[in-house]
Amino acid sequence: MDICVTLLIGIAVYFIVQFVRFIFADADFSLLWSTLSGSKPEIKLKGLVVWVTGASSGIGEELAYQLAGCGSRLILSARRVDELNRVKRHCLDFSSLQEKDILVLPLDLLERKSHEAKTKTAIQHFGNIDILINNGGRSQRSLCLETSVDVYQALMELNFLGTVSLTKQVLPHMLQRGSGSVVTVSSLVGLAGAPLATGYSASKHALQGFFNSLRTELTDYPKILISTVCPGPVQSQIVKNAFTEDLGKASPTAPEQLHKMATSRCVRLILVGIANGVKEMWIAQQPFLLFYYLWQYAPTLAWYITDVLGRKRVQNFKAGLDADAAYFTKPKTS
Ligand SMILES: NC(=O)c1ccc[n+]([C@@H]2O[C@H](COP(=O)([O-])OP(=O)(O)OC[C@H]3O[C@@H](n4cnc5c(N)ncnc54)[C@H](OP(=O)(O)O)[C@@H]3O)[C@@H](O)[C@H]2O)c1
Repeated sequence: MDICVTLLIGIAVYFIVQFVRFIFADADFSLLWSTLSGSKPEIKLKGLVVWVTGASSGIGEELAYQLAGCGSRLILSARRVDELNRVKRHCLDFSSLQEKDILVLPLDLLERKSHEAKTKTAIQHFGNIDILINNGGRSQRSLCLETSVDVYQALMELNFLGTVSLTKQVLPHMLQRGSGSVVTVSSLVGLAGAPLATGYSASKHALQGFFNSLRTELTDYPKILISTVCPGPVQSQIVKNAFTEDLGKASPTAPEQLHKMATSRCVRLILVGIANGVKEMWIAQQPFLLFYYLWQYAPTLAWYITDVLGRKRVQNFKAGLDADAAYFTKPKTS
């Protein structure tokens, strides 16, 4: 056979294989490559001291369980101390960790003045902090024109300034040691836009800008990892706890979560990313994963699709339906 034809068939097969891989992918290719050929979290994270904020539910709770399974020592933070103690007990039940290996450290990200003392307590307990996972945060479900500016302020105070404040306390300690990782859970909407989440998306964009800039400031510290994690929809309490148009008004929907990525899979990918020093992680099932690539490489097409889907999402929301699940689940018939 002519060598050109062989070459063309080879190239075609390569693209078909990549296309099939992409259809079944649930993370960006760098991260997926790390799952196949990179270091295992069980080896890399064993014995390290990891501080997880937002550890009382959802992604943070699962992070605690999987890190405990890896043998990491844990600092668990959030506001609800009972929930943190529940998470700690469960970690102790199934892992080889001892009581002293898990510190429950209640912390309100909004109380920035307390962050210095909390950091000192953590360092006194373990002697050092190897990894800070900035995971605590809240989302938003409301239309911009109906949303009080107080809600925007609260979102920035919590998701952005609370995270920046804690990072600024922990980072000097890592710089002094010359190593450490600051891993921040951003979002798909930290890279793209989404209706009903103007303030949430802004707070996550702010985090992306902050940590991308910080990373370049720390190039003299090659052993410091600054990583952002951008998940798409993941099963958790996030919609239940979302801000609405007014402070104090609870989110009315208790949405179906079956279409979302399993929390355990999202967290496994995060830990693989940390173990392999991945700087930005895109984690989502299809069709969401496609969006990251479109926003990055074909923004005009991304804007068009976002407009079409966004219009539907706003219509669902105004009709009192679950804005997300209406794409994926059939309406219940009684
Ligand atoms: N689930 C998703 O679809 C998704 C997608 C992209 C990004 N994320 C991000 O993932 C992170 C975790 O969210 P999740 O999905 O696991 O939601 P979640 O189940 O609602 O968990 C949120 C956590 O944040 C904590 N938190 C809230 N306000 C706090 C405060 N003032 N101070 C300290 N901690 C506070 C909560 O604990 P307390 O109430 O006990 O304080 C809870 O542990 C968030 O940053 C979120 O933006 C989630």
